Amino acid sequence: MKKFILTIAGGGSTYTPGIIKSLLLNKEQFKLEELRMYDLDAERQNKVAVVVREVIKEMDPELKLTLTTDPQEAFTNADFIFAQMRVGKYAMREHDEKIPLKYDVVGQETCGPGGMAYGFRTIFPMVQLIDYVEKYAKKSYWIVNYSNPASIVAEAVRRLRPNARVMNICDMPVGAMRNISAILGCKREELTVEYFGLNHFGWFTKAYVNGVDRMPEILEHTKKHGLLLPDMSKVDVQHSDPSWLKTWGNIKYLVEMFPEYLPNPYMQYYLISDHIVENANKERTRANEVMEGREKKLFSAVDRYNDTGEMDTSAFYVGVHGQFIVDVAMSLAFDLRKRFLVIVENKGAIANLPDDAMVEVPAYITSNGPEVVRVGEIPLFYKGLMEQQLASEKLLVDAAIEGSYTKALMALTMNKTVKSAFQAKKILDDFIEANKGYWPELK
Ligand code: NAD
Ligand code: G6P
Ligand code: MN
Repeated sequence: MKKFILTIAGGGSTYTPGIIKSLLLNKEQFKLEELRMYDLDAERQNKVAVVVREVIKEMDPELKLTLTTDPQEAFTNADFIFAQMRVGKYAMREHDEKIPLKYDVVGQETCGPGGMAYGFRTIFPMVQLIDYVEKYAKKSYWIVNYSNPASIVAEAVRRLRPNARVMNICDMPVGAMRNISAILGCKREELTVEYFGLNHFGWFTKAYVNGVDRMPEILEHTKKHGLLLPDMSKVDVQHSDPSWLKTWGNIKYLVEMFPEYLPNPYMQYYLISDHIVENANKERTRANEVMEGREKKLFSAVDRYNDTGEMDTSAFYVGVHGQFIVDVAMSLAFDLRKRFLVIVENKGAIANLPDDAMVEVPAYITSNGPEVVRVGEIPLFYKGLMEQQLASEKLLVDAAIEGSYTKALMALTMNKTVKSAFQAKKILDDFIEANKGYWPELK
């Protein structure tokens, strides 16, 4: 039976132990010859590896684990690469969130100006990663990419490395499906959805269980409670801390106003941006919560392990995040043709949007990649919103490729979260200062 070499790029990520646990839960089918962790930050990766070794010891003690900062060692003969790098780490995420808020604009790591700043940092490192993989990995490689901001990364890769074997994914739709199925009292696997959008910018239109569309029930529930159940921690720990509960709750307002479809939670940043800004803490954003929460919990568990030899296994979890990337990889590896929401080139899937848009839609994942489901025409409200967001993201990628200040300013001005070009310019100028050494030069 075939065995795979799999590399996690961004091995020092807080999500790595959960993803590896998910891989090993599937070890009977998805057999690994070697698991590698690759990161630029050896110290951070070494810490995370303390937890990873414990997971391997418990679940698959014979498995070879390699830690490296050398691309050749990381990717030689690799079959799968799971990419999850955060260029600039949480320190830069904090700037992405706090700089726009200074000007009363949404401060979010993947939406609005913050997502654009993160995009500017990530485009070229992602292209570099692809080049390493092309050089060293098996020709049949697949990069399954979580690295954000996924929309901008996907658009840049489409333009700069059109033949690369990259499957761009996001765990938010599957996170929402987890809540939907809990509300309906079915298993997530029993739920089939229709959906259209861009990444972090989309809508569920149908929710089938045993062939019956239960979207009306979900919309009724959401109007009252948002996409929440009384005890979310029983549903899954991931996306269940106080700020995520607030986000799931906010969907209520969106469905009250637009009762047609169920929005992706990230639509709150575009459709009720005033409410988001009014309720934001400009001094303490999500980056601070994550550093004091998920990151601290994991690294404290490492310190404690080093002192006592005891591992606190509650410091990490598989969640929908760990499950989803492994499900997608297995569908690619074994031609399972499972249906997932993924980020692909439109090519007519959404009939009234451009062919070259990177859209998030259902697709059957085969060993040759995604077979995309046709969505047809979408109504004007959603089309208009998506066209504006698409233009903003495409201008941002233009700006990075051309090194153009004006295009960057257009990209920010075009974004729905930004009120005026003056506001966009102030944010852009602050970002240029904060991102020295990370951003391409803009002239
Ligand atoms: P993290 O900071 O804990 O880990 C990211 C790691 O990437 C760090 O160890 C960092 O040193 C490393 N890194 C940075 N630049 C690199 C490069 N050029 N090459 C190799 N490694 C590099 O971040 P996290 O919160 O665990 O998130 C990891 C990534 O996954 C982020 O991009 C995040 O936005 C993304 N993410 C995406 C989804 C999704 O749905 N698409 C969900 C969760 C997280
Ligand atoms: C969701 C999104 C990801 C994003 C993550 C942030 O899972 O789909 O794209 O990276 O949330 O979560 P955090 O806990 O880091 O704020
Ligand atoms: Mn996402």
